[in-house]
Amino acid sequence: MSAPKAPIRVVITGAAGQIAYSLLYPVAKGDVFGHDQPIVLVLLDIEVMLGVLKGVVMELVDCALPLLREIIPTADPNEAFEGADVAILVGAMPRKEGMERKDLLKANVKIFKVQGEALDKHAKKSVKVVVVGNPANTNAFICKKYAPSIAPENFTCLTRLDQSRAQSQVASRVHISAQDVHNIIIWGNHSSTQFPDVSHGCVLLNGQKVKIMDAVKDEAWLKGAFISTVQKRGAEVIAARKLSSALSAAKAICDHLHDWWFGTPEGRWVSMGVPSDGSYGVEKGLIFSFPVVIKPNKTYSIVTGLELDAFAKEKICATQKELIEERDQALEACA
Ligand code: NAD
Ligand code: LMR
Repeated sequence: MSAPKAPIRVVITGAAGQIAYSLLYPVAKGDVFGHDQPIVLVLLDIEVMLGVLKGVVMELVDCALPLLREIIPTADPNEAFEGADVAILVGAMPRKEGMERKDLLKANVKIFKVQGEALDKHAKKSVKVVVVGNPANTNAFICKKYAPSIAPENFTCLTRLDQSRAQSQVASRVHISAQDVHNIIIWGNHSSTQFPDVSHGCVLLNGQKVKIMDAVKDEAWLKGAFISTVQKRGAEVIAARKLSSALSAAKAICDHLHDWWFGTPEGRWVSMGVPSDGSYGVEKGLIFSFPVVIKPNKTYSIVTGLELDAFAKEKICATQKELIEERDQALEACA
């Protein structure tokens, strides 16, 4: 029998909020880092939310979870990120009906400057960071900038929810399970300019791989309503719930981190916002959603060499333009 694993320290910010409430249980139970991986959960929120956070901690205790070794609630980022192995940065203001995610930039970006600085000082150099708080790509860019002692590739942002939304749209169109839809790509910003691209994707139909284009047989839908549905899904949820998506966001965070921790299956990729290395002409250093493959040793690489037609190039260019504008505004706000 192998020796029990040492606990890992997982920090979740915005721990008293909506997303965290759906995220804490699967993380603490072992669904993300493995059912043999003990966990110390560090829960960061702001001072005024510590009372609410106390209730969340009580509930976690009452779950009597075998892998959960310790719970540390705090409002101090320096304490929170001490020795962190994983940082899930959710804490930020969500948008309300009628707003674009980038309207949150001024309110939220400084949070990620402070947390980048605290990660830089206190976290393990191997820490894996996923930024969820919006605008997620630009917040991740700022967090990375203010943590220069940590490798840039350790900073990612969540676009997995967009990937899941795209998979489900195609699955319901073809009348199959979402798990049989592979290799859709989300390019660019987690915003209404993102480009959900099916041109390299396939579905499994009776055990056979079929290109999504051929299975759906409706190019007008794939280039029109499909794309805009995925781009606007977050806003639609807000209009209906009067709150932004939380359950589906938590599931996507779990998928993102699970795949980063354990790797992607042979022949499959997933979409993550990662620092651009210049692939596909995207400016180096921007946090841009690309298709990535991940090895079991937790290193990922951008899938290169995919052919892009004029339609795809134009969409990628538009979402890059938006990210450059957001980055410049964020740098100004943090100066
Ligand atoms: P929420 O308002 O329910 O919770 C946010 C929590 O963050 C609150 O408890 C708040 O007190 C806390 N917080 C605020 N500032 C903080 C700070 N400096 N440090 C630590 N905690 C802080 O919001 P939510 O529904 O949980 O959403 C959180 C963020 O995630 C929003 O910005 C939302 O837009 C974003 N989001 C992103 C995605 C994605 O796919 N990338 C999906 C859904 C939501
Ligand atoms: C989402 O995609 O659901 C989140 O980013 C929340 C939002 O503001 O749309």
